[in-house]
Amino acid sequence: MADLVRLAFAAQSRPTAPPSSALRETPATIRDELARGGGAVVEIDGALVGAVLWLEEDGSLYVGRLAVHPAHRRQGIARALMDEAEREARRRGLTRMHLGVRLALDDNRRLFKACGFEETTLHRHEGFTEPTWVRMERRLE
Ligand SMILES: CC(C)(COP(=O)(O)OP(=O)(O)OC[C@H]1O[C@@H](n2cnc3c(N)ncnc32)[C@H](O)[C@@H]1OP(=O)(O)O)[C@@H](O)C(=O)NCCC(=O)NCCS
Repeated sequence: MADLVRLAFAAQSRPTAPPSSALRETPATIRDELARGGGAVVEIDGALVGAVLWLEEDGSLYVGRLAVHPAHRRQGIARALMDEAEREARRRGLTRMHLGVRLALDDNRRLFKACGFEETTLHRHEGFTEPTWVRMERRLE
């Protein structure tokens, strides 16, 4: 999973500043994140091609590290992983989900809007004077 996350985030639609912390994931950090929250993967012919991690925070399911192998994009794998995150939120009896997305990544913002998320608040990384990312939230019926 760490290899896939690093590979996917190194192949974002455009470079972002600062670089994503996803590029520093290791087996140990992924193991820790899975133990604290959970996640889902998609395999094709035994190869890992998609992954997502989640963590319960303040009654909402935080969804992160959504990653699809560059050779398998635009086939609905990210949508399937987001559907699984929604099922996980419902299994836990949660009524909200949230995530963070870089402002520069218009395609990602569009994807999450299509998944029912709304942009809520702007944030900036340490050392930056302008906003760099936006929080997106989804309320589950
Ligand atoms: C963002 C990311 C996870 C999307 O993965 P994906 O599997 O390609 O996403 P999907 O296929 O589910 O949807 C992406 C687009 O393909 C479209 N699509 C889905 N199936 C399709 C098909 N069969 N034919 C053509 N287009 C299709 C979707 O409608 C969507 O279009 P839109 O962005 O215009 O709404 C992937 O690009 C990635 O790993 N990026 C790097 C890491 C990253 O940025 N993660 C998110 C951080 S916030």
